Amino acid sequence: MEKLLVRGGNRLKGEIPISGAKNAALPLMIAALLTDETLTLHNTPRLADVALLQKILRNHGADTMIAGKKPGQSRFVGDTVHITAAEIIDTTAPYDLVSKMRASFWVLGPLLARCGEARVSLPGGCAIGTRPVDLYLKALSRMGAEIDVEQGYVIARAPKGRLHGARIVFPKVSVGATHVVLMAATLARGETVIENAAREPEVADVAECLVKMGAKIEGIGRSSLRIEGVERLHGAEHSIVADRIEAGTYAMAAAMTDGDVLLCGARAEHLSAFIDVMASAGVMATAEEGGLRVRRANGALQAVTVETQPFPGFPTDLQAQLMALMTRAQGVSSIRETIFENRFMHVQELVRLGADISLMGDTALVKGVEALKGAPVMATDLRASVSLVIAGLAAEGETEIHRLYHLDRGFEALEEKLRAVGADIERVAA
Ligand code: EPZ
Repeated sequence: MEKLLVRGGNRLKGEIPISGAKNAALPLMIAALLTDETLTLHNTPRLADVALLQKILRNHGADTMIAGKKPGQSRFVGDTVHITAAEIIDTTAPYDLVSKMRASFWVLGPLLARCGEARVSLPGGCAIGTRPVDLYLKALSRMGAEIDVEQGYVIARAPKGRLHGARIVFPKVSVGATHVVLMAATLARGETVIENAAREPEVADVAECLVKMGAKIEGIGRSSLRIEGVERLHGAEHSIVADRIEAGTYAMAAAMTDGDVLLCGARAEHLSAFIDVMASAGVMATAEEGGLRVRRANGALQAVTVETQPFPGFPTDLQAQLMALMTRAQGVSSIRETIFENRFMHVQELVRLGADISLMGDTALVKGVEALKGAPVMATDLRASVSLVIAGLAAEGETEIHRLYHLDRGFEALEEKLRAVGADIERVAA
């Protein structure tokens, strides 16, 4: 077991390289199941979730290979991963793998589309919510899938081995359900229209890759997608979009320390709601040559009122980090979580560091305090864990962060990237 030791007080200055997006890499790797040719992904982040998904894809019969680094290549250039699912040898995604990483449930779409059948463990809930999959199953049924749920598994079959197109209207935005229907529709017979589709940049990135693989998709980036099914998809090469959540996270780490950093590779157009909230908080985030530059406008942080929304709204995956930042703002912030029903697990841990936060249903009221004080705290889920790092960077004394496996799922080389811009942070045996 390991823990992070963070000693607060240093101002972050310099450049932070932003990795490829975890939430694009995972569905892109799964999309490789749609073809018997090789899908090559560049700028793949080195994350525990990516390694686990490679294992899951091999379980279905895919070959995955990581190309070695080129001489002289920087430490932070992403991996190139070649995935070839020449033959699907097993259409079952077992509980012991799916329960470790819920996005692996998304193999349901490609397996059903390519093989006409799939047996995928229900992902189950997690720390931030029950995470049902009813929208996925209703949509696939409309595309002709026969679906049973037995002993914790979704058992799906496409009559005559192939799904047919349909008009899918999602009652609420779901990133995962959009991914699954989009992938399944590329090989279905006829046309599929998805209304109220997720518009997250990671969904657009997957759609762009599918088009390179021969899919026919219109409306990429918008909430209405139209897909004309084709007989087969072929291999392609694709470079994974920069991780907007990692970028927003490090932007708030910089703001928390009154620093000045350039987030290399970050794309301002994927962070517009976030940038607006930062401006209200007294933080300037401006697009510059090479990325996004972040520093405070004129001294103190100001309280904000925010509610999380699907893209292009303020992302739920930056909510915990914003809360950490607001613990040191002047005034009382109101942060409302509208996407997940239990995404305030970080509140109690931030309170242990001296934050003044009260919960009123789906809204957290954060009253800025003069100082935070380092203490031992525990990560509870991926994004909550990094909110504790942000708080520790400004806390007096030392903060110990336990259960780092949450952190390693979504942030590549976090302590290296932060140390390189002046943070006093190290990983030690717990
Ligand atoms: C994706 O999860 C992301 N994960 C999450 O990031 C992110 O928080 C979430 O989208 C929202 O943006 C990946 O991309 C791997 P949803 P997903 O389906 O697809 C409800 C992180 O930290 N819902 O958009 O599972 C659901 O319960 C992770 O990187 C149904 O009710 O999220 C939630 O309340 C955390 N029925 C809401 O919709 C369904 O069938 C949005 O969920 C599906 C979803």
